[in-house]
Amino acid sequence: MNSLFFFFFFFFFSTASTTPIPTTLDGPFKPVTHRLDPTLRQGSDDVPMTDPRLARKVDSIMPEQIALAASYSPSSIWVSWVTGDAQIGANVTALDPTTVASEVWYGEESGKYGFKQRGNSTVYSQLYPFAGLLNYTSGIIHHVRLEGLQPGKRYYYKCGDSSLSAMSKEHSFKTLPSPGHNFPPRIAVVGDLGLTRNSTSTIDHLASNDPSLILMVGDLTYANQYLTTGGKGVPCYSCAFPDAPIRETYQPRWDGWGRFMEPLTSKIPMMVIEGNHEIEPQIGGMTFQSYLTRFAVPSQESNSNSNFYYSFNAGGVHFIMLGAYVDYNRTGAQYSWLKADLHRIDRQVTPWVVASWHSPWYNSYSSHYQEFECMRQEMEELLYQYGVDIVFSGHVHAYERMNRVYNYSLDPCGPVYITVGDGGNIEKIDTEFADDPGKCPSQSDNIPEFGGVCHLNFSTGPAKGKFCWDQQPEWSAFRESSFGHGIIEVVNATYALWTWHRNQDSYKENSRGDEIYIVRQPDLCSKSVQPITSKTGSPRSKEVLHASFLGFIFSSLFQQLF
Ligand SMILES: [Fe+2]
Repeated sequence: MNSLFFFFFFFFFSTASTTPIPTTLDGPFKPVTHRLDPTLRQGSDDVPMTDPRLARKVDSIMPEQIALAASYSPSSIWVSWVTGDAQIGANVTALDPTTVASEVWYGEESGKYGFKQRGNSTVYSQLYPFAGLLNYTSGIIHHVRLEGLQPGKRYYYKCGDSSLSAMSKEHSFKTLPSPGHNFPPRIAVVGDLGLTRNSTSTIDHLASNDPSLILMVGDLTYANQYLTTGGKGVPCYSCAFPDAPIRETYQPRWDGWGRFMEPLTSKIPMMVIEGNHEIEPQIGGMTFQSYLTRFAVPSQESNSNSNFYYSFNAGGVHFIMLGAYVDYNRTGAQYSWLKADLHRIDRQVTPWVVASWHSPWYNSYSSHYQEFECMRQEMEELLYQYGVDIVFSGHVHAYERMNRVYNYSLDPCGPVYITVGDGGNIEKIDTEFADDPGKCPSQSDNIPEFGGVCHLNFSTGPAKGKFCWDQQPEWSAFRESSFGHGIIEVVNATYALWTWHRNQDSYKENSRGDEIYIVRQPDLCSKSVQPITSKTGSPRSKEVLHASFLGFIFSSLFQQLF
């Protein structure tokens, strides 16, 4: 049945458009570059806090910033929201989260709520012990996990505290399909969103594609740049603020972002993973407080016990969200969890495995070039062994799709790596390529906020003996400096249509900047779980410059500061 459906689906789309949509079976593709359209600006200012889309629209006691997140299975979903007044200033007093209950009423019919579920609430503070810097304490953040839901069904819900007559208006969502050979309709993928006028354009375009799930691959609000840049962007923070021992964040930006996103996130689950802009260091060496407190993710449900990495199923797709800013070494907890998670997957039930983390391993832009080589060298073999199909990342503010690759060599069984860090944030679009004359970064550039430096000189192939290539690498199939988002539509256990949408409406019918069917070949690629020897650029070769763990330096620096 599935193959018959796909035949007609493929036939229709192949004949309806003038150019047939390619498949990965047609690859590897000759590398193609679309540079920044010179008629377009490279970026835009932040949306100001006075914008109505960022303003609170309900009384303080009422729920706002309502957001959904998938649980491990479609029988469960997380509902989160905020009540009360956040404070910012020299002196702030944390709210008492026990003063407001966390309730969700829900049912299958509008206005009829046969089920009620209670959850928990919490607050967080962002404190800076420096004269002139503003402290912040959040509103009360509520998380409730609904259980006993039917897959693929619409539910109607209200959230809030009924004892205070403070329930929200009705919202609704549709649960994801059950695992097996049911596949969710369009899944949107977006990274490095921020909250500029380009970001809002991205979200408008994303919403028009009516996704059933949103993957947000890190760097969400850029709250850590709003106040210090005045919403205009500063190309060099340390140049503008040479004496600042810590980068101050403007936490009300998170509240504005939550309000801006609510029309989408109150009806579509949004799955987040942390990026470097979520680190947000503060007093006592604390980091990631906003990310950890604001978002519910299915960590416990997926046996991870850390909100920095987790997994979940959406129909026949198993999603793995990895943390690039926590220990990813083979001896660490994340690696052990990942191995166990991969081992548990039944490909008869979830044939597709999609992994996401913030910082790309394969990237030919100058920006962040080879920045996360250490993570690649630790984890790539494991993902390859278990046949991960697609990897989504952000961090680089542009679009790039790779040919199937493993250990820097073209490989028909490697994952398809895709970078979609082009959500539209204040730092503007990346336009330079490491293979452009004079644009190869030095090995002291692109130092990650966590993890160390493992920059690699290539030991074989066209870039032998060098850090950068002289032309677009063969593993980079297509790259373009435009803002946008992607949509993945899984058709069946073998085919998934990936479409990258540029924001520029002036492209009209060409607004689909990249389209390809990603095709699984389990018969070709079924592997036993055993070590695979490296072929190119041996990770532990002499060329590797392996620095000590900057993450530990980073955290001990803050320990000393406070
Ligand atoms: Fe980033």
